[in-house]
Amino acid sequence: MSKNKELLWQSRFSLPFDRDALKFSSSVHVDRKLFREDIRGSIAHVTMLAEEKIVSREEADSIVAGLREIEVELAEGSLVPQWEDEDIHTVIENRLKEKIGIAAGKLHSGRSRNDQVATDTRLYMRGRINSLEEVLGGLMKVLLEKAETYRETIIFGYTHLQRAQPISAGHYYLAYFNMFDRDRGRLRDLMKRVDISPLGAAAFAGSTLPLNPSRTAELLGFGAIFPNSIDAVSDRDIIIEFISACATIMMHLSRFSEDVILWSSYEFGYLEISDAFATGSSLMPQKKNADIAELVRGKTGRVYGNLMTILTIMKGLPLSYNRDMQEDKPPLFDSAETTIDCVKIFAKMLENTALKEDRLAKLTAEDLSLATEIAEYLVRRHVPFRDAHRITGKIVTWSITNAITLPNIPLEKFREFSEAIEGDIYDSLKPDASVNSKKTHGSCSFRSVAAQIAEAGKAL
Ligand code: ARG
Repeated sequence: MSKNKELLWQSRFSLPFDRDALKFSSSVHVDRKLFREDIRGSIAHVTMLAEEKIVSREEADSIVAGLREIEVELAEGSLVPQWEDEDIHTVIENRLKEKIGIAAGKLHSGRSRNDQVATDTRLYMRGRINSLEEVLGGLMKVLLEKAETYRETIIFGYTHLQRAQPISAGHYYLAYFNMFDRDRGRLRDLMKRVDISPLGAAAFAGSTLPLNPSRTAELLGFGAIFPNSIDAVSDRDIIIEFISACATIMMHLSRFSEDVILWSSYEFGYLEISDAFATGSSLMPQKKNADIAELVRGKTGRVYGNLMTILTIMKGLPLSYNRDMQEDKPPLFDSAETTIDCVKIFAKMLENTALKEDRLAKLTAEDLSLATEIAEYLVRRHVPFRDAHRITGKIVTWSITNAITLPNIPLEKFREFSEAIEGDIYDSLKPDASVNSKKTHGSCSFRSVAAQIAEAGKAL
């Protein structure tokens, strides 16, 4: 049996840690991703230690130089983290000892892996939140371009997945723009709570050494320091909030994906996905599938699962740190990476889609979704809305039974249903008239959509 490497806490024990137990508890394969954040945090910590004269300037210099070399070794792959080292913090500390000798042992003065890992996690999250905000901005830009391109294209708006009323396609794209804008707002709000340094909380109770947490916070660019050292090491709310924000983004993407999948089907036929973003079948030569949208929809399930994972890990944990919390990283990393990837590829795919305008123009012109226009026409003629609704319902039934579309019903026929109907009814029975007769705030008319586009432009 091969011998364990020196673990940070081994001295108290008379037996070496069982190899299988060590392998089971090692998190190197996951937290190796945090090596840059870990080294950054350590450099800030040792800089503060030197300023407070807890370590000498020479010791700090040699620790910092060693850490910088280790960062390069890890980035280049000449240093490969091994599970025997328990976690990335230990990998780096053991390597530092090999490089600079006993001075390496001073890096950990006044610091526990508990505040260390909490710091690394927050640094990682800050980076991911920024990336996610950026890719969301990219998606919103594509949506705004789509809204501009298709402002005067009329599509069906749906409720219950039944054709409901004609709308400007720009209005549709802006609905998604607003969802992703709120998602970005959620991340910005969360950033206020992420931007707090836990470094200096030590294991959980603080330290007898004259640490200066404000200084390490400043060196790491954090806006504030922890108010309470117990909370500093045991708070994972920010991870829950972050994954929840990711889950909401994925839910929005998944709904959008569903639209793309349906609209690009032969049955709907509203949307063409560029060949560069569609897949074929290995058996059926005619197939053109919206796999990118399907994968985004599928990956949404993974991110929802991650949210349940972290909530369940935290449930019932006594204060303060517990090793359970090491399990926070797989769901955190997976949610961040999956969501960023999905937003990016979805934006690129969306850019490469086109509405089939000719087909949409033909379909909307003939459709029963103009029925609401008749009801509102009657209301303008002072018919109570309930009566108008009932009369229009009968007109619709007649239209279906006789296979005559609404704009093709003769005036005499209309007047059998209501004397209030006159020749100008046909002006209302055009999709663009229907769309542009909307007068209310935030509605689907071309004018309202132009105003919404102008507002959306400011949000970008
Ligand atoms: N690998 C641990 C984690 O990610 C680091 C903290 C270990 N602390 C401890 N007391 N065992 O949470």
